[in-house]
Amino acid sequence: MLDIIKKKFEEIYKTEPLLVRSPGRVNLIGEHTDYNEGFVLPAAVNKAIYFAISKRNDGMIKIYSKDFNEYFDGSVTNIQKSGKGWPNYLLGIVEQLTKNEFEISGFNCVFGGDIPIASGMSSSAAIEGGLIFALSELYNLKLEKINLVKMAQAAENQFVGVQCGIMDQFINIFGQSKKVLKLDCRSLDYELYPFERDDLRIVLCDTQVRRELAGSEYNVRRKQCESGVHLLKKIYPRINSLRDVTVDLLYAHKKEFDPLIYKRCEYVVKENDRVVQACSDLERNDFQSFGQKMLASHEGLKNDYEVSSTELDILVESARKINGVLGARMMGAGFGGCTINLVKEDALNNFIEEITPVFIKKLNVNPKIYVTKIEAGTSIQSSIKTNDKVSGKEVNLEKV
Ligand code: GLA
Repeated sequence: MLDIIKKKFEEIYKTEPLLVRSPGRVNLIGEHTDYNEGFVLPAAVNKAIYFAISKRNDGMIKIYSKDFNEYFDGSVTNIQKSGKGWPNYLLGIVEQLTKNEFEISGFNCVFGGDIPIASGMSSSAAIEGGLIFALSELYNLKLEKINLVKMAQAAENQFVGVQCGIMDQFINIFGQSKKVLKLDCRSLDYELYPFERDDLRIVLCDTQVRRELAGSEYNVRRKQCESGVHLLKKIYPRINSLRDVTVDLLYAHKKEFDPLIYKRCEYVVKENDRVVQACSDLERNDFQSFGQKMLASHEGLKNDYEVSSTELDILVESARKINGVLGARMMGAGFGGCTINLVKEDALNNFIEEITPVFIKKLNVNPKIYVTKIEAGTSIQSSIKTNDKVSGKEVNLEKV
């Protein structure tokens, strides 16, 4: 894929590009907790978007999307929302850079990859994270990793208009090979847990239902959580987010809540607890127990947070009955996209055999099953000379 992107770039722009790989992500547990200042447990994976990019000096932005087979031309100084959709994830980044007074004088770009769009694997954060990382390298902006994350998230919040949390952009930049990352979305402290196991696989089942509802419903869920916090804050001024709330405290005030808001808040508070407990399971290598938390997470997302869908529920219900499946749940914002399954390696073939007819007979689609590997966050794949440094290739100095 990288070669195809590079060749296309050289064919169009007749110059050598900087090459960047920006991965999609899975989330083991901790869904809809990030914007409630809670915990999440994502990992970057072996599906990615690749960028080939070079500087321009005339203020122009020239982009070719391989996946859409479309071109986009714009200008750094006059950023307008595009009706095409996909350019907005990139333009939002340029807008963030100019807003924060980072000077760039234009760029040529070809990008494309193999993260299925709107599948819950966060192709949007991969586009945002990939471009801001690439531009920071190209223009030697010396942006710290955490600022890449924050600006990528701001691009999605302010320009694309989805009030997403910080999980996807964070794991896109900070992900590490063979490790899952427990992020405290309040302090932004994180811990890495080794997740390289020969006996387990993370398998995604793609409903292929694209999440049209997700954008608007996502923002509605955020508002519902905020209104729960608002109610409790009147009684306990120290409460600033659902992170500050326990199940007992919530229960003590159940009567004061609108029942729908209560359900939403209860899910978030319990899911936060589940992430913390799931991390203790990891420390004890107790994957049976970890899998149980994934199943409980799905129940909450389905019944209380109500962001699942018929297709997701069918895949989870079917998966949990298959031998060797430790856990299964919907992943990401919901309403479509993928389920994530924790499957024993020696049961993988059987899993694929048994879940395949579910796709065909119950979902009426061809099966799309991705056996993932945990890989590093956004990185340079090859280097051209940028401003005043050669970035990319690491030189290993041999000890003498
Ligand atoms: C989307 C958002 C994330 C997170 C998840 C749900 O992927 O981008 O910030 O809220 O949904 O957990």
